[in-house]
Amino acid sequence: MADKPTHRSGAPWRNMYGRTKGNKLRASQQEWLAEDLADLSVGAVGWEINPERQQFEIKKLLGDRPLWLEVGFGGGEHLVHQAEGNPNVGFIGCEPYINGVAMLLGKIRKLNQDNIRIHPGDVRDLFDVLPEASVERTFLLYPDPKHEFTWRCKGAQDWREPWGDWISTRYEQKALREGRVPHYLTFERI
Ligand SMILES: C[S@@+](CC[C@H](N)C(=O)[O-])C[C@H]1O[C@@H](n2cnc3c(N)ncnc32)[C@H](O)[C@@H]1O
Repeated sequence: MADKPTHRSGAPWRNMYGRTKGNKLRASQQEWLAEDLADLSVGAVGWEINPERQQFEIKKLLGDRPLWLEVGFGGGEHLVHQAEGNPNVGFIGCEPYINGVAMLLGKIRKLNQDNIRIHPGDVRDLFDVLPEASVERTFLLYPDPKHEFTWRCKGAQDWREPWGDWISTRYEQKALREGRVPHYLTFERI
């Protein structure tokens, strides 16, 4: 059987769904990216700079606190809401769409806290370098389907109503405007 294709760096070939760039960035957004992103980035995730796939030391990054992860944070409204409500938790947000990263940086500037770090790329690259079982909770809102998880559901209320500290996102507002009905599914890793 033929080997699976890889990038020149050795990275596995992974299809990306969605855009990494959108409308031209505003001057302020370019400034946030230039001034803030390096300090808030999680570090050596990419295959080019970490070909050995050396693991992170989470404590160095976020101190001795539980780690929550948001995959595909979009414009960052949910991530910032969670970080604000849980100042004792460390957060990593992943998002390859650079306009979304810029939006998050603008929100972080207004947040008087230091518990968010960013991977501005594909979460699958981050999974390679995160220590086993290091993430206590993961948010995956409006994603593509995943597997090896079991759905936590006792009755219809569980998918009709969001959880207690839910905040509506731009994608949800768009879905509601277009007459689509959201469902709220909570999964547990098997
Ligand atoms: C439908 S949008 C939802 C955004 C946000 N969760 C919300 O509810 O507003 C899906 C997001 O997932 C991001 N995404 C897609 N593939 C990803 C990947 N492999 N790693 C991280 N984020 C990804 C996209 O760039 C996009 O912003």
